Amino acid sequence: MSEALLQEKIRARSARVGIVGLGYVGLPLAVEFARAGFPVTGIDVNADKTRRVNAGDSYVGDVPSSVLAPLVQSGKLRATTDFSAVAGLDTINICVPTPLRKTKDPDMSYIVSSCQEIARYFHTGMLVILESTTYPGTTDEVVLPMLSKSGRTVGRDFFLCFSPERVDPGNPQYQTANIPKVVGGCTPACTAMGRLFYSQALQHVVPVSSTQVAEMVKLLENTFRMINIGLVNEIALMCDRIGVNVWEVIDAAATKPFGFMPFYPGPGLGGHCIPIDPFYLSWKTRQAGIEARFIELAGYINGQMPHFVVDKVQNALNDAGKPVKGSRVHVMGVAYKRDIDDLRESPALDVMLLLQRRGAAVTYSDPHVPVVRVDSLDLESLPQESAADADCVVIVTDHSAFDYVSLVARARLIVDTRNALRGVVSPTIVRL
Ligand SMILES: NC(=O)c1ccc[n+]([C@@H]2O[C@H](COP(=O)([O-])OP(=O)(O)OC[C@H]3O[C@@H](n4cnc5c(N)ncnc54)[C@H](O)[C@@H]3O)[C@@H](O)[C@H]2O)c1
Repeated sequence: MSEALLQEKIRARSARVGIVGLGYVGLPLAVEFARAGFPVTGIDVNADKTRRVNAGDSYVGDVPSSVLAPLVQSGKLRATTDFSAVAGLDTINICVPTPLRKTKDPDMSYIVSSCQEIARYFHTGMLVILESTTYPGTTDEVVLPMLSKSGRTVGRDFFLCFSPERVDPGNPQYQTANIPKVVGGCTPACTAMGRLFYSQALQHVVPVSSTQVAEMVKLLENTFRMINIGLVNEIALMCDRIGVNVWEVIDAAATKPFGFMPFYPGPGLGGHCIPIDPFYLSWKTRQAGIEARFIELAGYINGQMPHFVVDKVQNALNDAGKPVKGSRVHVMGVAYKRDIDDLRESPALDVMLLLQRRGAAVTYSDPHVPVVRVDSLDLESLPQESAADADCVVIVTDHSAFDYVSLVARARLIVDTRNALRGVVSPTIVRL
């Protein structure tokens, strides 16, 4: 297929769109393109996910089944585990995981294995866009050689781009369709094709000059966030030491109409992005002889926060005349942030494991996470009422479904790591 024909198919929304990896990123993207009228095929190695998509049963919080099901029923969206579907596709977005190895080195295995499968069925005239967060250079150095093996030339026979995913699970204001989409191609023709493609389904597209710039944009955004959270966590540790309420300080500073942006302290970093992505950058720059010192420092401070929270719990229990050993500590919220069900890298896991190690009996409530089975934790979520007879309650994730008024009325002792009890004055509340 020629460049002009692919452009025509994209404009007519008849291009057959493929999304590889149907997780928190891939499923919302598949839905947006199906809603825009494209025929969409999702490919995932997880047969349970493809079965659920084909049944119109969403497992991603930001995609209601009431939106997914009609798209499946009308034939606009289907899912498969079979990569031979690539043979019938015109475009592919790769949205597979990019975790870190234990050594904090990037784990490229998901990108490599999905590209190996794509390469088997790859054909002339396709547009391929990598969306997985990764280090600058991945698209050109890892993906391009795998797709060029066939002897095809990028920018002429096929089009390859990187476009960072910025989805913010649980954010009702900004979702896939209205978050500006940055895209950079291996060649100007690739960028132009990527821009044309996204502009059919998304409201605002931001082209940049190369795949490396697009890769670096994502790492700047998340490193900025990680370092500012590290800074505010350090300020929280300082305020605690000198007896100042850090939350009041931040609220007052945030009244400055320019030059300040509030970040908030908490029990530590969580999720699949902020704790991980900056290490992609430090890994890459170390190879170029530059140590990413801000990243290392913020990583250290953020990593101390679960320990700080557990010290707070222990001290609060001591003050109440109860040793932490043998006390029941009830954790409110275990997902890594408010109103989502994602447990990946959640600081609640560290908090619970550290409490267990100090001899506490740990229980939890989370309306979004029914069970926690990680390391020595094997727990089921209890109703919020069970917080009432715990020796101490720790608010780790400030879900909006919790009834904070009744919590304050009933709990004996509360350690609030999120300022969920903003403005409530009670001798039973200990704040971060
Ligand atoms: N979740 C977020 O908020 C978020 C935000 C921005 C960027 N990202 C990035 O987007 C990428 C995907 O993240 P996610 O949260 O959607 O992950 P996820 O784990 O929710 O989804 C990834 C999906 O890919 C599938 N998969 C794994 N290997 C595969 C293979 N070889 N072929 C096909 N499918 C395969 C998995 O089964 C899973 O369904 C990551 O690089 C992540 O860093 C995530």
